[in-house]
Amino acid sequence: MDFEALRQECLACRRCPLCETRKNVVFGQGVPDAEVLFVGEGPGANEDEQGLPFVGRSGQLLDHFLEAIDLDRNKNIFVANIVKCRPPENRDPLPEESAACLPWLREQFKLLRPKIIVCLGRVAAQQLIDPKFSVTKDHGKFFDKQGTLFMATLHPAALLRNPNNKPQAFGDFVALRDKIVAVCDHTY
Ligand code: URA
Repeated sequence: MDFEALRQECLACRRCPLCETRKNVVFGQGVPDAEVLFVGEGPGANEDEQGLPFVGRSGQLLDHFLEAIDLDRNKNIFVANIVKCRPPENRDPLPEESAACLPWLREQFKLLRPKIIVCLGRVAAQQLIDPKFSVTKDHGKFFDKQGTLFMATLHPAALLRNPNNKPQAFGDFVALRDKIVAVCDHTY
């Protein structure tokens, strides 16, 4: 299975009721040899319209942080979400929706084999690192899980609500840059 075949299968997904209300499946965006994978929560209204992750205001903020450490979703990373279809009213994904969708993310991991996974916000961190994960307490720390490094930072939408936390998030991106230099081969 290559990335394009996986994407085509995912675009036709009907594994949970979110397929009834979505306009577009948001499979993810990035390069197929990315060593760094960013994982958000799920598509919002703009993402649902365009079929691409993080294209609204929080996406603009994410792109600024990425640019500051020479990352670019069109050049050297991949960006995906825990759920590929928009939860109505942007509510948190239900456990059964995340559970139905996670196999798609697992297939994406298998194809990419990323060295570093960055969780954007609580939903991704609790799903991928630890169900009790506290982003406030443990953002910016790296956790080795079976040879893959996981880190969580504040969700860009949370930073739009609380701009005072932007310096903390920026610190996480600087730490990420150092980690990429240490463990990645071709990101920079
Ligand atoms: N928020 C997310 O978590 N993911 C997106 O793709 C957009 C906004």
